[in-house]
Amino acid sequence: MDHFVLKQHETYCEDVPLARIAQEFGTPTYVYSRATLWRHGQRLLDAFASYPTLPCYAVKANSNLSLLREIFAMGFGADIVSLGELERSLKAGADPQKLVYSGVGKRRDEIEAALRRDIYAFNLESFAEVELISSVARELGKVARVSLRVNPNIDAKTNPKITTGLFSTKFGVVEEEARAMAERIRQSPQLSLVGVGCHIGSQILDLKPMAEAARRLADFAKGLQALGHELAFIDMGGGLGIRYNTEQPPEPEQYAEALLSAIRPTGLRLLIEPGRVLVGNVGILLTRVIARKQTPEKSFLIVDGAMNDLIRPSMYDSFHDICPVAEHTADLEKMDIVGPICETGDYFGKDRSLPASLHAGDLVYIRSAGAYGAAMASHYNSRPRAPEILVDGAQMKVIRRRETLDDLWALELN
Ligand code: LLP
Repeated sequence: MDHFVLKQHETYCEDVPLARIAQEFGTPTYVYSRATLWRHGQRLLDAFASYPTLPCYAVKANSNLSLLREIFAMGFGADIVSLGELERSLKAGADPQKLVYSGVGKRRDEIEAALRRDIYAFNLESFAEVELISSVARELGKVARVSLRVNPNIDAKTNPKITTGLFSTKFGVVEEEARAMAERIRQSPQLSLVGVGCHIGSQILDLKPMAEAARRLADFAKGLQALGHELAFIDMGGGLGIRYNTEQPPEPEQYAEALLSAIRPTGLRLLIEPGRVLVGNVGILLTRVIARKQTPEKSFLIVDGAMNDLIRPSMYDSFHDICPVAEHTADLEKMDIVGPICETGDYFGKDRSLPASLHAGDLVYIRSAGAYGAAMASHYNSRPRAPEILVDGAQMKVIRRRETLDDLWALELN
């Protein structure tokens, strides 16, 4: 459930009409609902309340400082993958003891910064990383808490570009190698093995692979404990899917049960790294129609947002619902909703039924754009990045201003 709803013939975000936001801040613009964010966060926290769980929000999904502040205020930690995400999280008030650092290629300077900040744990993804972290920790005279990211070779049954738990991907290590890494870690006074984990993919709608991964990880953890390794946690990553169209994603309670039935018997703390499920349906991209256009084969609705603002349809062929802001009573007509960028791949939706009466100047909005929307935006075609507005009841706040043309080339001037 979200707070983007039609009231008296026009769409509101909470108590603010989207048309007013467009009028005040222009388009394209990202709009987020604070009430939706808190609702999603709270539901997730409640679902895991019966078991010691540390939810670490995957900052990559949406890393706006104001949203991070809200998320940390709810009690979440963070899953980070770069120096930028580390510093952003700390700037937004994250507790370093709730930060886990993931990623297949952490640089020496990134490891050093995270060690100095005394983060909770590093998720290791290769043998080489054991040596690298141990050498950085030695230089700093610190002990690094580390966790082993296992690749369980389980198919998450999602888009291949966001599948991460198969041997054909670059992620994690096979169990045998992870066990060898554990032995190496035991010999290093600079390293302390505190956990094991996995992340099998994103936008997962079927709980079976998740449950199977949890069982595999629980068994793997027990095996390590039998060898004398004292573990503190199992990190099951993120990946819970959301509804973009007609999907029926698992409820947070079902998700929790799928993981906890395997993890509970281990008694180990559970870490999760939710991204999309927290912020996906918190945001929309508000755009204005520039023109209608007809070819012998198709009808197009050209809007002022584009693939540089929201790349998911172009990149993953993913579905985002597209709606007019004002209620239209005209008949529906099939059209492609496209941006002004010079690529055929610049589209938000194909063959969508929208009111035939839509014309230049009308507002349309693209739903479920809170996750991997603004976070993946670029300057392609020298388009300044869209602003981000946070709505809270009847209030709205600019949480990232619209970029100016000068911002575009500021770093290129001597
Ligand atoms: N943990 C790790 C180690 C991850 O790699 C990811 C996402 C997450 C957690 C959070 O996954 P989530 O709960 O959001 O599914 N840009 C793509 C999604 C890429 C996901 C990358 N890793 C998209 O727009 O669909």
